[in-house]
Amino acid sequence: MSGVDTLFLADRARAIKPSPSMAAKTRVDQLRAQGRDIIDFTVGEPDLPTPAHIVQAGIDALNSGDIRYTASAGARPLLEAVRAKFQRENSLDYGLDELIVGVGAKQLIFTALAATVQAGDEVIIPAPYWVSYPDMVLVNDGTPVVLACPEADGFKLTPQALEAAITPRTKWVLLNTPSNPTGAMYGADELRALGEVLARHPHVWLMTDEIYEHLAYGQARHASPAAVVPALAARTLTINGVSKAYAMTGWRLGYAGGPKPLIKAMATLISQSTSCVSAISQSAARVALTADQRCVSEAAAVFHLRRDRIVALLNAVPGIRCPQPQGAFYVYPSVDGLLGKRTPAGRVLETDLDVVMYLLDEAGVAVLDGAAYGLSPYLRLSFATSMENIEEGCRRIREACAALR
Ligand SMILES: Cc1ncc(COP(=O)(O)O)c(C=O)c1O
Repeated sequence: MSGVDTLFLADRARAIKPSPSMAAKTRVDQLRAQGRDIIDFTVGEPDLPTPAHIVQAGIDALNSGDIRYTASAGARPLLEAVRAKFQRENSLDYGLDELIVGVGAKQLIFTALAATVQAGDEVIIPAPYWVSYPDMVLVNDGTPVVLACPEADGFKLTPQALEAAITPRTKWVLLNTPSNPTGAMYGADELRALGEVLARHPHVWLMTDEIYEHLAYGQARHASPAAVVPALAARTLTINGVSKAYAMTGWRLGYAGGPKPLIKAMATLISQSTSCVSAISQSAARVALTADQRCVSEAAAVFHLRRDRIVALLNAVPGIRCPQPQGAFYVYPSVDGLLGKRTPAGRVLETDLDVVMYLLDEAGVAVLDGAAYGLSPYLRLSFATSMENIEEGCRRIREACAALR
């Protein structure tokens, strides 16, 4: 791009970067185009197909002419399904005018920030975080306040850290449970303790990203903050979506519940940008949320087996230590034990990004660096990939790590 073209861009476009997982995907595609055999652990979406009854609902919508614009907050039948879902699974009781659907949870997070954040407003983001949060705050002129949540705290925000980070400019705290990238989940007691802090700071709102709600393993149970701390509900935006639970990432549909004035402002922003979510996706999502939910637990069972396997395989690699995630489909192993080691080519691994590049070049395994998620030295691997890939990818990682000196 020429200098003139760059000057044409707004500051807000220059303040942000493409998502690292999208950049990794481009790199993997390039290497594959060169004939390299790459095992890809960077993908953030289920590898399973959308369940057949949901696909059929999309086809039926097309055939029945359900192809028009809808209200910008979403078509009423879908909002009713979302309302019933929140009641049934989260003990949250929203009125229809307190609900909205968007082009993925991502659009709803973005739109909520756009509707509320002024220049200089602060948004507290516990790290490791989903890579898009800081950039979404920046593009809306806000200031991301990143709080490191070490492994010793289960990668979770503590009440003390939250209390210390709140200022008069704090607008939101963004909580993601289960978490991408660590799989950490907040229990009810932990949420109540955070709620006590927020009770002392009534100007601070809570945005909860619960997109991985249904991917919780073993004894882990998802708790919705607004249900656990009802006093906070009047300043909480609860965000969820069908992408991960129903393998519907490309359908692009998320939903949220929150106070009416906020939902109304978000709907206005959507009405002046995307108008509404595709009517076809809305029909399919209504069926996803109202039909038999067995497909969700079946998918979770598949991910559970993969989680157990990848954690065991990575913990067998000298220099890697992999905590067991409670939810989502990512592991976040520490590579502290690999730093300072020398590759066969004589290069010293100094950062988690060095480890990523070494694994990609030497082992043909694509993973992401903890630095991209705000906490080093870690890697992020997605286990939304086949058991064969998990076995082979971890075998390659073990071999590559054994070659380090
Ligand atoms: C934590 C988190 N929130 C939101 C999203 C986006 O979800 P959607 O497809 O509904 O936009 C993702 C996708 O990777 C995610 O990891």
